[in-house]
Amino acid sequence: MTDRRTDVNLEATATASPATSATPDFDAAANLDQLHAMLDAIQVKNGWNKPTPSLYPQPKQRFAGARWRYADARAALHAAGRLVGTEWAERRNLILANPVAGNDYSTVTTLVAAYQMVKAGETARSHRHTPNAMRVVLEADDDTFTIVDGAKVPMLHGDVLLTPNWSYHGHSNESAREAYWIDILDAPLVQALGPMFFEHHPDQVEAADRIEPASPMRFAYADYLPRLLGTAPMAPGLRQLELGVDRIDSFDRIATRLDAGADWAGEKSTASRILLVIDGHGHSTIGGQRFDWSGGDVLAVPSWMEHAHHADQDAVILCVSDAPMLRALRWLRGADAG
Ligand SMILES: [Fe+2]
Repeated sequence: MTDRRTDVNLEATATASPATSATPDFDAAANLDQLHAMLDAIQVKNGWNKPTPSLYPQPKQRFAGARWRYADARAALHAAGRLVGTEWAERRNLILANPVAGNDYSTVTTLVAAYQMVKAGETARSHRHTPNAMRVVLEADDDTFTIVDGAKVPMLHGDVLLTPNWSYHGHSNESAREAYWIDILDAPLVQALGPMFFEHHPDQVEAADRIEPASPMRFAYADYLPRLLGTAPMAPGLRQLELGVDRIDSFDRIATRLDAGADWAGEKSTASRILLVIDGHGHSTIGGQRFDWSGGDVLAVPSWMEHAHHADQDAVILCVSDAPMLRALRWLRGADAG
């Protein structure tokens, strides 16, 4: 085997690739500072004096507990209806970026939430992407639909609709009133891992010749609310019902009912959560900070953060978390570990 140093250019600069540079004379380093400076020439970092620890005893959290108010988002989206057209905007939505420095997208580590509005008579064109998505409907009249894989799926208050990885989806508001909902996507996870693909439907809006109220992509509020109320309480005034099984592996949906006056002491977990208030009002404490909430509001509960919730009025909250993925990877610890 040829020694690769025999044919290197000895005049190469320190920024050249290691394959074409001479090995620095490390033995000439008189102290650690000099040795560290020489490591740059071979594109490595010392592992004995890292500026930022790579391993630590417990999860460190970049994101904060946060709350977004539907009343604010609704007013902003209504105004955007005058100024932002779906003919040039892929979606008329508001991204709930966790309010920490340097973040302009993720709501929690793996998930993003957004409020979206489609005007009466308007269509949001069809597309597909590798991030999994779901909607929770806040306000919509009859004849508001998400078109998924060639079927029109009705959107009514409290409904949860799934558009899994690579399913075409568009939105069609054939009613006389603006429709509002919350989108959740695992796009931050896909961005981190790399397998992002996106494309428009070749026909702009996918043709749909049938309405499917019982679509497997839809959890209708009229169906799951009675089932939720029929479950045995886990604690006084607290009931939970998982909306599954389905084709999304990265996040789950736990419908949670809190009777007026009831408390939900959510223990900390390695799962990241987004809570969507469908009905009712109350308050939560997340990481020691109090947030009041009412119907349509959204709460971010970052992983490994204490959180507790209290309803002043009968409330339904949809809790979305990445627990299934953490469980599959054996990284789920805490309250959701089961
Ligand atoms: Fe989409």
